[in-house]
Amino acid sequence: MLKVRNLTKIFNLGTINENRVLSNFNLHIKEKEFVSVIGGNGSGKTTLLNMIAGVYMPESGQIILDSKDISKMPEYKRSAFMGRVFQDPMRGTAGDMEIMENLAIANRRGKVRGLRWGVKKEEKDFFGEYLKLLGLGLETRLCVKVGLLSGGQRQALTLLMATLQKPKILLLDEHTAALDPKTAVKVLNLTEELVAKQQLTTIMITHNMKDAIRLGNRLIMMHEGKVVYDVSGEEKKSLKVTDLLDRFEGISDRMLLA
Ligand SMILES: Nc1ncnc2c1ncn2[C@@H]1O[C@H](COP(=O)(O)OP(=O)(O)O)[C@@H](O)[C@H]1O
Ligand SMILES: [Mg+2]
Repeated sequence: MLKVRNLTKIFNLGTINENRVLSNFNLHIKEKEFVSVIGGNGSGKTTLLNMIAGVYMPESGQIILDSKDISKMPEYKRSAFMGRVFQDPMRGTAGDMEIMENLAIANRRGKVRGLRWGVKKEEKDFFGEYLKLLGLGLETRLCVKVGLLSGGQRQALTLLMATLQKPKILLLDEHTAALDPKTAVKVLNLTEELVAKQQLTTIMITHNMKDAIRLGNRLIMMHEGKVVYDVSGEEKKSLKVTDLLDRFEGISDRMLLA
């Protein structure tokens, strides 16, 4: 499904601040795989997602999605078939637009535009039904401006929008880190539900090792731009947080990961 091949990303190349974040990085992800990614601060996790999404171009290497080389495809084109949710709840939605308008934009993603902008009745009903999934009562507030929602509600809405048109891959970057613990659990459960329902190929970065173990069927640990641990199946299911810390201790200070 996704092949990241010999990918190299160097920030500020040729300057005193040169920073080689990914160096000949390789990662293959199968269709319907749900990969959680952990690793210390600055280990290159966000950069990896940014490279997959086309935010930055690589110095060398390829990104192949569905047997197609998308390495040189600009971000806006990739966004037609990728779903993204960021740590910052403000980033994924337009605060000065209504819930319904936000959903309408998400629903038109990757489709030919130029048609009428109005939201059709069927579409409105569909959004209402879809919002019920959240269990937040938003289905009765379709005309409310998103800026009035709480961070958790907004993040749940972003997640819904990212998956409204089934993405080829869903990219989550610490998307519950800015939420209070209770809301974080809700959004995480919703993540699990949406991914399972649509059988989405997913990469989820998290700093929460319990979440990384609980969600997904594969776990990778990154350190200094490399995959230092890659586990799936039964072995992943039986992992404990202490196992991850022990692994990490072999290469760095376990405090960095914790
Ligand atoms: N746009 C950028 N310009 C320069 N350096 C960057 C940029 N984005 C990330 N970096 C650097 O790349 C390294 C990895 O960062 P990042 O991928 O955000 O790590 P992580 O998400 O694992 O914490 C860090 O040293 C960071 O400072
Ligand atoms: Mg990051």
